[in-house]
Amino acid sequence: MAKSEDYVFLVSKFLLLICVASFIYYKKYHRRSRLDDEEKKRPTTFVCRNPQQAKSILNGSYFEEPSLSNALKARAGPNTRLVYAFGIENAFTTTDTKYHRQFVSLAGTRINLSNVRWESLSKDIGRLLHGNIERQRISNGTVLLSRLLQITVLRAVLPILFPNSDVPDLPEEEQDDVAYFIADKINSLWIESKTTQAPNPKDLHSLKEACQKLLPGIAVDSPRDSPLNLILPAFETLWRIVFRCFIEVQFRSNDDFESNKNLLQEYLNRPTSEIFTKADARDISVSHIVNEALRLYPPTKRVYRHIQTESRVNPDVVAVDIESIHRDAQIWGTDAATFRPSRWGSREMNGNMMSAFFPFGMKPLVCPARKVFGPRIIGIFVASLSQIFNDSGDLETVGEMDFRRQGLLENARDSYMSIAVRIKERKELGTCS
Ligand code: HEM
Repeated sequence: MAKSEDYVFLVSKFLLLICVASFIYYKKYHRRSRLDDEEKKRPTTFVCRNPQQAKSILNGSYFEEPSLSNALKARAGPNTRLVYAFGIENAFTTTDTKYHRQFVSLAGTRINLSNVRWESLSKDIGRLLHGNIERQRISNGTVLLSRLLQITVLRAVLPILFPNSDVPDLPEEEQDDVAYFIADKINSLWIESKTTQAPNPKDLHSLKEACQKLLPGIAVDSPRDSPLNLILPAFETLWRIVFRCFIEVQFRSNDDFESNKNLLQEYLNRPTSEIFTKADARDISVSHIVNEALRLYPPTKRVYRHIQTESRVNPDVVAVDIESIHRDAQIWGTDAATFRPSRWGSREMNGNMMSAFFPFGMKPLVCPARKVFGPRIIGIFVASLSQIFNDSGDLETVGEMDFRRQGLLENARDSYMSIAVRIKERKELGTCS
């Protein structure tokens, strides 16, 4: 009897053990498959640093069915945050091929300037810089470089992008303040858009109101009407590259300083495409200086695309890392990280380097400012700054000093925001008739 009780006890213990083990196994397995499902849904970002692969992603051949429509879909996905943050619909956010074509064509038309317009633009830029420096100097004695550039770049490109706008009925100083407010709001909304899908609507409202002050008569309400559609791609890229190119030329070009200054001065006197590409005895031109800045400090550091694979629920993101391809020592040589415009001379430049240089993206979604407007307006800004600063007596840099150290400049949005220049000796600033 005692033996059979022992037997029953053992069997029931054994059964209990099996139940517990099955329960644990079931729970574990179930959890793992739930995690697998979640993992399949969570988008992963792949970074592409290989020039050939980058090319195939950007020109669409990487995808199964290359077409404009698919290219737009692949780009619009990662840019959805811009729709929420800025209330826009432009080439970067749309999947409508017809609207995309119209938008890019309009942008291309607006930035296609005649020779006469280039000349007047160069004078306008000089006047804006000059006036702004004077106003900043009178108010606090120093000129904050980032502020100076944000204001003048924005005020210089608005009449080009919006030729139908009325002239703002505001004193110059107030226009500077509104321009700075716009620059600041764009920056904060951009940063916010990375972490939230619902930025504060008051911010967007005040941004639109400010745009209306500088662009009277231009509609701002519907996403397709928004002036931010053109302001965002044009302004954000330009002021940051001008900033870095100017720092390199003005503060870090050592032995080449005088020759670069002369090249820029000649271009400012005659801002034609001929002078822009004319090389001096060193085989360097303004175009080479601008290219070298765009190589090391591409304002669009990464370009994002959605890629859909069968095993995944949601699309993954591929980030084409333009900045690191532009700095790859295997392509650009051991001094890849040095600002050296002479590498663009005919003796040194080769096909390998040319095909690894794409600061303006690639077809079919290549930037309309790539060939003429972008490089040449950067040249004019840098040349104007160089003239004004070098003709104004001794310069004394105040604030951050890190940018004088050897090595690459930082390429983050908020780097060097406190670099200021004090003009020690009071002389008349450079002419800008
Ligand atoms: C230095 C200045 C500039 C740089 C570095 C730059 C860079 C770029 C890049 C990398 C792209 C491709 C983005 C992608 O593939 O997703 C692009 C596209 C574009 N950019 Fe620029 N850009 C600059 C200036 C401008 C200016 C001044 C405008 C004036 C309106 C502009 C308008 C556009 C437009 C409309 C597109 C979309 C093209 C398309 O979808 O076919 N950009 N830009």
